[in-house]
Amino acid sequence: MVSRARACANIALVKYWGKRDEVLNLPAKGSLSMTLDALSTTTSVEILSEGVATDQLILDGREDSGKKLQRVVRFLDLVRATAGSKARARVVSANDFPTAAGLASSASAFAALAVAASNAYGLALDPRALSILARRGSGSAARSIFGGFVRMHAGTRADGTDAYAEPISGAKLELGAVIAVARATEKKIGSTEGMERTRQTSPYHAAWLDQVDRDLEGAEEALAAGDIERLAEIAEGSCLAMHADALAARPGIVYFGTPTLWAIEVVRSLRAQGTPVFFTIDAGPHLVAFAPPAHLEAIARALAAHPEIDRTPISRVGAGASLG
Ligand code: PMV
Repeated sequence: MVSRARACANIALVKYWGKRDEVLNLPAKGSLSMTLDALSTTTSVEILSEGVATDQLILDGREDSGKKLQRVVRFLDLVRATAGSKARARVVSANDFPTAAGLASSASAFAALAVAASNAYGLALDPRALSILARRGSGSAARSIFGGFVRMHAGTRADGTDAYAEPISGAKLELGAVIAVARATEKKIGSTEGMERTRQTSPYHAAWLDQVDRDLEGAEEALAAGDIERLAEIAEGSCLAMHADALAARPGIVYFGTPTLWAIEVVRSLRAQGTPVFFTIDAGPHLVAFAPPAHLEAIARALAAHPEIDRTPISRVGAGASLG
């Protein structure tokens, strides 16, 4: 049997940076994101016959036998343990954007894998259970189970049963995004390693964690009130504070690339001229600009002017992960 699922990436407006448990992948604090239609992963999972001894991973057309396969095997082991199965699987996954360069590929990847694998192994999981399962693959993947604006709960339980995402209803803002895809190879420091080094060595980490709850509350209020100025202030503040925390680790973690500061300037000068736009940046050099749909084309043109920004795809809000 083959099960196929598609999931969209999401970009956090209030960032997740720091875990309370590395094994269960529990975030120290909540986060808030928007799901993006233009960045998606399609994954199929085929259960192999009894005699096959290992899982297989075909990623973007190439067989992987390294770290990515190991991560997928660990994830499938969780699904197998719940389903009471020992059968191996063939996973075929394709992204429509560059992987592992800070472009949220793990979010769409593990959300799609959670939906496809749980179905293939015969588990009927509700969206909350899928979010909890996806979180084991990647913290941000818990949010990609849902569409629109999404809130992730840090939870307090040691077993992680209260660390899941939920859609936010009643948001009065319609936003799309422009992704300024900077020329980049695979990112050097993955988010798990980056978060752990930051937690252990950054003198700013406690202050960062302290700020997140206020930002979450403020962002939800801004969404409910349709207040883009307030959301802009919170999202840019959360992003820059997260990077300040990582920059202050020892050795310091610099995710920005050559065009990143330039792109921040572009967004801020467009805003000074009256365009309702704000930015965020994940663990990589790409800037994501958020604005109401009518402004996206002009923002994309402005951000495309840098020689080291290769593409500026426009994204509308994405739907939740689904089979098919
Ligand atoms: O889901 P992870 O482990 O790749 O962590 C995501 C971390 C950030 O993208 C930097 C922030 C976020 O909330 O998505």
